[in-house]
Amino acid sequence: MTLEEEDKKYVLQTYARDYTNFVKGQGSTLYDDKDKEYIDFASGIGVNSIGHGNEKLSNALCEQAKKIIHISNLQVIEPQVKLAQKIVELSSYDMGIFFANSGAEANEGAIKIARKYGETKFENKRYKVITLEHSFHGRTITTVKATGQECFHTPHFSPYPDGFSYEKSIKDVYKAIDDETVAVLIELVQGEGGVQPFDKEEVQNLAKHLKEKEILLIVDEVQTGVYRTGEFLASNLYEIEPDIITLAKGLGGGVPIGVVMTKYKEIFTFGDHGSTFGGNYLSSTAGVVVLEVLEKLYNEKKIEETIAYFTQKLKEIVLKYENIFEKEVGIGLMRGLRAKDAQIQSSVVKNSMNEGLIILKAGKNTVRFLPSITITKQEIDKGFERFEKAISSL
Ligand SMILES: Cc1ncc(COP(=O)(O)O)c(C=O)c1O
Repeated sequence: MTLEEEDKKYVLQTYARDYTNFVKGQGSTLYDDKDKEYIDFASGIGVNSIGHGNEKLSNALCEQAKKIIHISNLQVIEPQVKLAQKIVELSSYDMGIFFANSGAEANEGAIKIARKYGETKFENKRYKVITLEHSFHGRTITTVKATGQECFHTPHFSPYPDGFSYEKSIKDVYKAIDDETVAVLIELVQGEGGVQPFDKEEVQNLAKHLKEKEILLIVDEVQTGVYRTGEFLASNLYEIEPDIITLAKGLGGGVPIGVVMTKYKEIFTFGDHGSTFGGNYLSSTAGVVVLEVLEKLYNEKKIEETIAYFTQKLKEIVLKYENIFEKEVGIGLMRGLRAKDAQIQSSVVKNSMNEGLIILKAGKNTVRFLPSITITKQEIDKGFERFEKAISSL
């Protein structure tokens, strides 16, 4: 049987999979089993933040694996504590951290914190969470319900938990608030929804309003966090102080990890929340190395340079191919090109793969770029050369 046949036989078919079999990677270059080379502008949907085959990361993981991979969270885990400290310091927020294993799980934790806050702080429990229509917050029953895209609320999985409602834009959130609203959950740049950043002033005004009303602002930084937008957190870039922030994707450089951080450090007491794997030796070690690598790049202004270079390339493409793309969108290394229609979007992604370039789709008509934060100028050049070849026949 071929690998494709085996996959179809043994793995539940929840993804419309491409069957290129990648066997190794170095930086932002991947190689398949026929030794064909690909430039990776997707980094595993914003996960391989320091690229593939990073020696520092693989050495640290091997060394840690030889000592201890896992003990339970009933014992203190040194790299977990170190990682928590590092995240808090880099964020500049006075917060406490809970470790999970994925973005959805981090958002579940955030919603639990909000629900407990709503229960303990007010005489009549507040429990409602407002999110936005094009948002994406995960695939568990609660986080699909928190996700504002109607297509995710299929009746197959109902009944869903109560207490979630969706607004078109940030401006509409104000009128949706009632005396049972406990939190507003937003991404600052919607990723899956089409690489859509929100206006800084609008977000700052909302944050101010929520503070006055004692309603929590939860920022889902699963995709925007860990230098993706150029700052450690998009919340830093937007100069706001959320009550709760979630992280995942880029933090582990490919090792599963999730984080919920909050300024309500005493909200959870023993038994309120837990995770068998969350923040174990392996994932926390990965997180520590990823942050060391990226903090250094940030301080040397290399991330800024990479963003400027990538942005320039996108602008050139829009100018040259105005028949294919309307505009470039996004912030930092979370970018997109708005294609004229969904058909073009699909062809661009498919042709790029044939040319040896991995890119992604987002929303209805956006071609999405989530390269690793450590991508080099040479890799960017090579990627865009292939991109131009891919779109030249359209
Ligand atoms: C903003 C956002 N939140 C949550 C998630 C869910 O993360 P995970 O797939 O790790 O559960 C994603 C994944 O794409 C995301 O982009």
